[in-house]
Amino acid sequence: MASTDDAPPVTTTATSAPSLPAASPSPAPEGKLSGKSSPKSGAGSPRNLDDALDPLNGEHWTQHPVEDDSDSVLDSILSSTASLSSSIFEYRNINGRTFHSDKTNAEYWGPNDDKQLQSQDIIHHCLTLVLEGRLYLAPIDAGKISKVLDVGTGGGLWAIDFADLHPNLEVTGTDISPVQPSWVPPNVRFEIEDATLPWTFRENSFDFVHMRYLFGSIPDWDAIFEQAYAATKPGGWIESFEADANLYSEDGTVTEDSPMGTWTKVFKEAKKKFGRTFFPIEEDVQRRGIEKAGFVNITVKDIKVPMTGFPKDPKLKEIGQYSHLAIEQDLEGMVLYIFGEVMGWSVVEIHAFLAHFRKQMRNKNCHPLFPIRIVYAQKPEKKKD
Ligand SMILES: C[S@@+](CC[C@H](N)C(=O)[O-])C[C@H]1O[C@@H](n2cnc3c(N)ncnc32)[C@H](O)[C@@H]1O
Repeated sequence: MASTDDAPPVTTTATSAPSLPAASPSPAPEGKLSGKSSPKSGAGSPRNLDDALDPLNGEHWTQHPVEDDSDSVLDSILSSTASLSSSIFEYRNINGRTFHSDKTNAEYWGPNDDKQLQSQDIIHHCLTLVLEGRLYLAPIDAGKISKVLDVGTGGGLWAIDFADLHPNLEVTGTDISPVQPSWVPPNVRFEIEDATLPWTFRENSFDFVHMRYLFGSIPDWDAIFEQAYAATKPGGWIESFEADANLYSEDGTVTEDSPMGTWTKVFKEAKKKFGRTFFPIEEDVQRRGIEKAGFVNITVKDIKVPMTGFPKDPKLKEIGQYSHLAIEQDLEGMVLYIFGEVMGWSVVEIHAFLAHFRKQMRNKNCHPLFPIRIVYAQKPEKKKD
């Protein structure tokens, strides 16, 4: 299933520039997250000294007050993006914190409410900046193709932008949550479809299959790429865009025992219980799965993205500011399910941790990055008889 003889080898490029980390209807999980049923709720005395010392244990974070020395960095981000916010935040209202319906096979960690969708919209803007204004890197000729699929489309902004730019073609966005807007270009449609179940699309029907930010959602990546391969037309392209929950720095300002270091460790631990990786780059699931499915002409592009606005370079600074804004918009939504339902932290512990995390993000002397990887590849053309 690997590359054909005449296919060029896999191309890998690493960019020294910076990119971004990262949301159908059922009630928000109760129980541990309610803060009522967990015996650990409350910021009282630690159960024992080990709990208080171990940063992977939520209780640790309730034992350390957060000193309020935050600077005005967030205010300036908020004001500088106010105009952006007012236009991209025009979404339908969904009351409360909600997660996707349990009438699906899928288990997804993110809320699907307005707060989370707004964060996704900012992330979309940020990731588009990372690609210097582009929506994809694959060498498709968008003027000549007719059908595009966006798997796990979320609020659907990528699909909408793509359809707006290319009125000649039809874009289908799929998700497990019906949270996409109804005011969309006439050439976009959204369908509820669980990507982990057999796809309902005809074989060889899409010119371009796109999927972005499905980390922590997919139990079997090879199976997803196999289905994408079947749905792609011969000669068509796939593009997979992912991030790792790996927060790091190149100058030692993100230490292992800091909140950001803890974030990375907790998400690593979570895979063991949750069965879905938050580290698709480190585990190389994209390139391996795409190659195994039979795609050829594979290109891998690695980019590191600033998580806050610390870089001096104005473009990188802007990317970092949007990334910071997106994370602050719904930091709770990113961890509530994994830290609470999967790892067993109480709501009090989660919020104590997040207070420390926010403080680290707002510290201008801290220079956090996270990795993204874009892999694109082509389905071989039909052999001529
Ligand atoms: C982090 S969001 C990314 C949204 C969008 N792709 C983007 O990049 O802006 C992940 C999305 O994947 C969807 N998702 C998770 N598991 C899924 C599955 N099994 N099938 C289809 N969509 C899924 C979630 O509902 C959520 O909307």
